[in-house]
Amino acid sequence: MSEGTTAFTPRVFSGIQPSGGLTLGNYLGAIKRFVDMQGSGIETIYCVVDMHAITVWQDPDALRRQTRELTAGYLAAGLDPTRSILFNQSQVPEHAQLAWIFNCVARLGWMNRMTQFKDKAGKNAEKASLGLYAYPALMAADILVYHATHVPVGEDQKQHVELTRDIAAKFNHDFKTDFFPMTAPVIEGAATRVMSLRDGSKKMSKSDPSDASRINMTDDADAIAKKIRKAKTDPEPLPESVEGLKDRPEARNLVNIYAALSGDTVADVMAQVGGKPFGEFKPLLADLAVEKLAPISSEMARYMRDPAEIDRILKDGAGRARAIASPVVQKTYEIVGMVGA
Ligand code: AMP
Ligand code: TRP
Repeated sequence: MSEGTTAFTPRVFSGIQPSGGLTLGNYLGAIKRFVDMQGSGIETIYCVVDMHAITVWQDPDALRRQTRELTAGYLAAGLDPTRSILFNQSQVPEHAQLAWIFNCVARLGWMNRMTQFKDKAGKNAEKASLGLYAYPALMAADILVYHATHVPVGEDQKQHVELTRDIAAKFNHDFKTDFFPMTAPVIEGAATRVMSLRDGSKKMSKSDPSDASRINMTDDADAIAKKIRKAKTDPEPLPESVEGLKDRPEARNLVNIYAALSGDTVADVMAQVGGKPFGEFKPLLADLAVEKLAPISSEMARYMRDPAEIDRILKDGAGRARAIASPVVQKTYEIVGMVGA
């Protein structure tokens, strides 16, 4: 947690889209790390970014359910709404207000370089929504409306956080101010890029057509164990040391998952399991995954039985978030020259 702007009080912000289905990648790359950061003495703000989710079609009933489900996932994983601010994006209109200003700061050339847009829009970019294209400017607004200095994310979001810095720098430069901080992405730990269980060169993703490629946060113990048993590997036993994992993406992925779940370093894990055949390692990994994930999925189900409580938590969080965001938008409008601000 270094390299953020020092003149600003450290503050953590991150978000996940309620686009349905949380994976082990979301848990290890994001949620678990959000929870760990609660104890660091820094203010933590976590968001269910529903306005980002609608950049691709979402059925309205499904969006409501997915928003509550993601909130339940955050809570079940240990996010404490009294220690963090937890809310959904659309309840805090300041995100959209600042995003418009940033739409006028960001350059088309910057947006054209965003790899997530290219991946999501696919071959038919003409048919993608304007929102999908402008998505990174909204993400910059999410972060900067709180003057957040640190953003824990998985590897795939690094480019967006860098764009956030570019937007902050251009705003500060154009308006001769130092109002916005240079936010640092925090991409740490063994599982910043959890790979598919079927193909070690592809990211584990909720949108992969094969359910066997991912562990879902709602999978029960049997499903988790079965998917790990069937995970693709090469025929060799595990190498003796970390270096031996270099050209073995599937082996490396399973070891990284083990390390992230256990909290040990990859080197520690290799000291314990190096040289073991997969027939021995996979059951150990399956047991560990079930031990860590099964309680979260049952907690999630328990929260989901009380949607009114989830809605209450989100509303309370939104009120606290607005208290920070509103003066930042106010000041931004003043800087930009809007009368009445
Ligand atoms: P998304 O589901 O795309 O909204 O992602 C939410 C968060 O989870 C972001 O911080 C991502 O970087 C992270 N994430 C998603 N998939 C993975 C993965 N396979 N490995 C590590 N982090 C991931
Ligand atoms: N773009 C992120 C993703 O797809 C989600 C996101 C939106 C986000 N706003 C954010 C992450 C702000 C961190 C900070 O995963």
